[in-house]
Amino acid sequence: MTQVTLLPLLERELGAARVLASDRAARYGQDESNLGSFPPDAVVLAETREEVALVLRLAAERGVPVVPRGAGTGMTGGALATEGGIVLSTERMTRIKEIDRESLIAVVEPGVITGTLQEAVEDLGLFYPPDPASLSMCSLGGNVAENAGGPRAFKYGVTREYVLGLEVVLPGGQVLRPGRRTAKGVTGYDVTALFVGSEGTLGITTEVTLKLLPLPAAVGTLLALFRDVHAASLAVTSIIGAGHRPRALELLDATALDHVRPKSQFPIPPEARAAVLIEVDGEPEAIEPTCVRIGQVCERAGAYEVILAKDEKDRRQLWHARRIVSSSLKEAHRWKLSEDVAVPRGAMPVLIDRVHEIGKRHGLGMASYGHAGDGNLHVNVLSERAREEDGVKDHVRAAVADVFRETLALGGTLSGEHGIGLAKRDYVAWEQAPELIEFQRKLKALCDPQNLLNPGKMLPVGHRE
Ligand code: LAC
Ligand code: ZN
Repeated sequence: MTQVTLLPLLERELGAARVLASDRAARYGQDESNLGSFPPDAVVLAETREEVALVLRLAAERGVPVVPRGAGTGMTGGALATEGGIVLSTERMTRIKEIDRESLIAVVEPGVITGTLQEAVEDLGLFYPPDPASLSMCSLGGNVAENAGGPRAFKYGVTREYVLGLEVVLPGGQVLRPGRRTAKGVTGYDVTALFVGSEGTLGITTEVTLKLLPLPAAVGTLLALFRDVHAASLAVTSIIGAGHRPRALELLDATALDHVRPKSQFPIPPEARAAVLIEVDGEPEAIEPTCVRIGQVCERAGAYEVILAKDEKDRRQLWHARRIVSSSLKEAHRWKLSEDVAVPRGAMPVLIDRVHEIGKRHGLGMASYGHAGDGNLHVNVLSERAREEDGVKDHVRAAVADVFRETLALGGTLSGEHGIGLAKRDYVAWEQAPELIEFQRKLKALCDPQNLLNPGKMLPVGHRE
C-alpha cells in the first residue's frame, strides 16, 4: 500500500511526534457533521508552509489522497477522509503574525482560533466581525475553506468580505499567493475569492491576510418573545423595512426554544413560541434609542415581551441561549441532521411554514433557528432513532430532500454557510446547471489534476466527461 511507504518517510522528514498512524488517529475520523467515522490512514500535524508543501508533494508522487482539516467543527463532512489517505491538520499553525493598526490588517496562520483573533484585535480597538457560532473552537483556515458566516453577517458580511489575500499550497506542493494588502485592488482575476469557500478541494491555506475594522464603540442586545413564529418572522422583515441595520437578527422557533429553556441562564417563559435576538452597534448615545425603536417595531409585529440587556452579563446570557441551540438539539436526540438553507429574505416566513409541514408529513421533529436577517435558516431534522438503525437514514434524507426542494423553489440555495462537503454533494445538480458544474470541475482539475486533494467533496461525483 502506498501509505506504508509514505508513513516512515513522513516520520523521518517531520519527526515521529507529528505523524499519527491510524491507531492514534481516531479523533480525526469525525467532525461535527454527524456523518459517521472515517479514520484516515495517517494524520500529519503540520507546523509550517514548507511541511504542508512537502506532504502535498510526497502524496502527489505516490497518489495518496490528502484531506485538509482545521479544528474539525465543520458541519458538512468536508474534513472527513472518505477515501482514506492523509488528514493534514493545520491545528498547530496558530501564530498571529501581524496586526497592523494603521492599515487595519491581520496576518494569521490557519490554525488560529477565530475567537482568539477577535480578542487580540479587540484589545487594540479593532474588530474582526465574522462570528461563526462556534467561534471559541473553529479556526480561521476552516472559516476560509467554508466561507463561514454566522450571526453578524447581516451587517458585516461573511468571511469572504474579510480575506484580502492568501497563501495556499496546491496539490504537488506549489505555493500561490493570490490577493493583496490593500483595501482595494482589482489586478487579475479574483483568485483569492475562488479559494475562499473552496472547501479544501483546490489548495491548503497556510496564511491569511484579513481586513479589520475599527471596533464599534458600543453594542446593544435585545430579545423579543412571540407567541408564534409568523409574528417573529414578520418582526424581522419589519425591522429591516423600518431602515434599521442591526448586526444580528437571529430567530429561534418553538422547538429550538424548548431545547434551550432548561439550560438558559435567564428564564424563557413557556408561552414563548418564538424569539428574535437582535444586536445593534454604533455610537454609545445611539444604542439605547435604537434598541427602544426596534423593540417597538417588534411589539407592533406581535412581540408580547421585549427583554433589553442592561449590561454585558445580560448580553452574554441572551447570546448563551442562542449559542447552545445546536449542542442542546444534538444532546436531546439520537440523531440530528442540521441544514443551513438560505432563501431570499422575503421568502423566510414561507420557508418556515413549509419546514413545519415537511416535519409533520414525515413524522419527524424539526427545529428551525438561525440567521433570519439573511434568510439563512438552520433546519434541524430530529430523529429518535440512531442513524445506524434500519431505514433511518432514508427517512431523514427524504425529509431533508423536501426541505431542499422547497428552498430551491423559493429561489434559495442549498447552503448559506456550512458548505456542501459530503452532506449535500449529491444535491448540487438540483441547484446548479450542468455547464456550471462542469466549469467547476475544470477549475478543480486545473489545481488538482490527480484528484487527490479532498476527493469526492463538494462537486457531484460521476458524469465526468
Ligand atoms: C449556528 C451554526 C450551526 O449558527 O451555524 O449555530
Ligand atoms: Zn449558523
